[in-house]
Amino acid sequence: MKHTAFAIAAAALLLGACCGQPKFQGPLYQDESADLEARVQDAISRMTLEEKVKVLHAQSKFSSAGVPRLGIPELWCTDGPHGVRAEVLWDEWNQAGWTNDSIVAFPALTCLAATWDPEMSALYGKVIGEEARFREKDVLLGPGVNIYRTPLNGRNFEYMGEDPYLSSRMVVPYVQGVQANGVATCVKHFCLNNEETWRHTTDVDLSDRALYEIYLPAFKAAVTEGGSWSIMGSYNLYRGTHVCHNDRLLNQILKGEWGWDGAVISDWGGVHDTDEAITGGMDLEFGSWTDGLTMGRTNAYDSYFLADAYLERLRDGRADEATLNDKVARVLRLNFRTAMRSGKPFGAICSEGHYEAARTIGANGIVLLKNDGVLPVSPDVKSILVVGENAVKMLTVGGGSSSLKVQREISPLQGIIERAGADVKVEYARGYAGSAATVQDGLDVGQDLSETRGADALIAEACAKAAGADLVIFVGGLNKDGNQDCEGTDRLSMDLPYGQDAVIAALAGANPRLAVVLISGNAVTLPWLEEVPALLQGWYLGSEAGHALADVLWGDVAPSGKLPFTFPAALEDSPAHFGGKAFPCEGENYYEEGIYVGYRWFDHKGIAPRLAFGYGLSYTTFEIGQAKASAASLKDGATLKITVPVTNTGERAGAEVVQLYIHDCEASVDRPEKELKGFRKVYLEPGESAKVEFEIGTDALSYFDEAGHRWVAEPGDFEARIGNSSDAIATSVAFSLK
Ligand code: BGC
Repeated sequence: MKHTAFAIAAAALLLGACCGQPKFQGPLYQDESADLEARVQDAISRMTLEEKVKVLHAQSKFSSAGVPRLGIPELWCTDGPHGVRAEVLWDEWNQAGWTNDSIVAFPALTCLAATWDPEMSALYGKVIGEEARFREKDVLLGPGVNIYRTPLNGRNFEYMGEDPYLSSRMVVPYVQGVQANGVATCVKHFCLNNEETWRHTTDVDLSDRALYEIYLPAFKAAVTEGGSWSIMGSYNLYRGTHVCHNDRLLNQILKGEWGWDGAVISDWGGVHDTDEAITGGMDLEFGSWTDGLTMGRTNAYDSYFLADAYLERLRDGRADEATLNDKVARVLRLNFRTAMRSGKPFGAICSEGHYEAARTIGANGIVLLKNDGVLPVSPDVKSILVVGENAVKMLTVGGGSSSLKVQREISPLQGIIERAGADVKVEYARGYAGSAATVQDGLDVGQDLSETRGADALIAEACAKAAGADLVIFVGGLNKDGNQDCEGTDRLSMDLPYGQDAVIAALAGANPRLAVVLISGNAVTLPWLEEVPALLQGWYLGSEAGHALADVLWGDVAPSGKLPFTFPAALEDSPAHFGGKAFPCEGENYYEEGIYVGYRWFDHKGIAPRLAFGYGLSYTTFEIGQAKASAASLKDGATLKITVPVTNTGERAGAEVVQLYIHDCEASVDRPEKELKGFRKVYLEPGESAKVEFEIGTDALSYFDEAGHRWVAEPGDFEARIGNSSDAIATSVAFSLK
């Protein structure tokens, strides 16, 4: 029904063209060749007050009404951000039980960020956009770009790490790739949603420098450069007001300073007050409550904050029509750009190309963290023992709203068996037992991981089998259960759960040829790192997990991922927890560390991280040569070229990520020791060299001046520090800003 009216309009256009009448015959708002703004205003002029209010709130769990009388279709949203969510019942979270809504799960966004490759991001956007389009969705609820502030945040796996520049560069191609399909992205969760436990009540405050320099840039890039057509207001409060109706964040910054014309969609249940929602910048309210049908009310959607209560205020003059029209215009723009747009591609679902993309992105995001010669798997290996629950557990399921119903999921064990081939004996031992729960959104995914043996028996079995194997591969980490990598909860500690540290230590004692693979979206403590010869950060890899992992284990794909966040040695070392600060935080929540988030904090405090931001090895080695600047100085508004040679000095092909950090030698305000302002991933054959080029403009040298409320680049001396991780600077070049 949704597309019928629009199809009629398109047919009218076609008919007009055939009969030598190229001019569109219908009303202006239906003429796709006309200016968008003129169409939107024309539609608004034809809408009744009731119709206007109707488009500002949900009509089901994931859809909002159009204007049937005018042929304006409904809008359909879906989660996001790693694949298209299964259909749910009209007014419930439970799955609808359709048989045609299984999809491809793509790697988690932490993995995408770890590729440090905007081309991977473009590919990701394209394929997930195609899946969303095929499922007839108009808005994809993602990607997520909240900054990684603490390793305990349960939703870090859905985001792009700790650095504003990295996440900005990675989010833009994702947005563009999705939207090329006529599907809007809804970048989330805007903003400061950095914990889950008290996500509805935590009231964040922070300096403007931290807000503008750390927490806003990725959102700004997504809307101003990526052109995202919608954004999701987050659950938390900022300076005493919920973000979903926060005048400063939504009206002043997002719509004002950034000049954005898109629609703010509330997080599901993020709106709490009609008057604040009207004046505070909320455009489209979702999820306020869920009893529309199940509790037997005729239509609870009329009770939304932006429904009847808004209508009453408009009728009695407490609310003005100009504000209403602005909201309607934003929702109509979103609608015209997506649902009411002809000539959209059809999209595709579960195509081999999509599986290939999932595998490529996954393999390119896996990070090799340590390797004392155990990897890549040698042809001499004739027996492999795989240990660990994550080698077999379905990890596309769970974690909250990003949980997926996949057409297929290749487990690490399957991937290893396939790649090892018939000549290699592959055995499995459980090693530890986590939770056996596999029910999601009311559906049992049909995997039974119940275990009756105790920890000692599982370790004894694994060690006995390990002793005789040519290679042991442990696959563990976190999972998508509550208090791990999971929405609505945070982790309770930075340690690995289920006694895995003891299993890994015992395995290291039983067989020195041990590779550990961690599946997680967060940093964990690594007490056994010195005893373990090889360590890989495997992330949540989605449908092609086992294939992507085997590609890297065997070296079919050279590992080239780099950490998008720091692994602290201990939780107390990290900025949100330093000095025993309370986390999670229910009420007033001041971000004392300010701009010193991630590696900026570790640099500032002189604390050595366990594994640094930007770190990751390959099976080959690289040398970064002397950097050169095109000039000794630049003027405000101009740019400088910095070139640096990089050579593959090893025996195998591989890719290196050359990272450029800016150091301000003298400043009138506190500045981080260095900040990432450029990176390039280069693929090199053995012995091959390349010249990497960076362009540095004054924006890369600026800080946010709170008093003047503007970005300032202070004249003086700077250094570009270039290396292959934030703690491995190979070369630097000095220059000045005149
Ligand atoms: C989550 C969002 C999600 C929405 C709809 C909320 O609970 O925070 O990320 O898009 O639900 O499922």
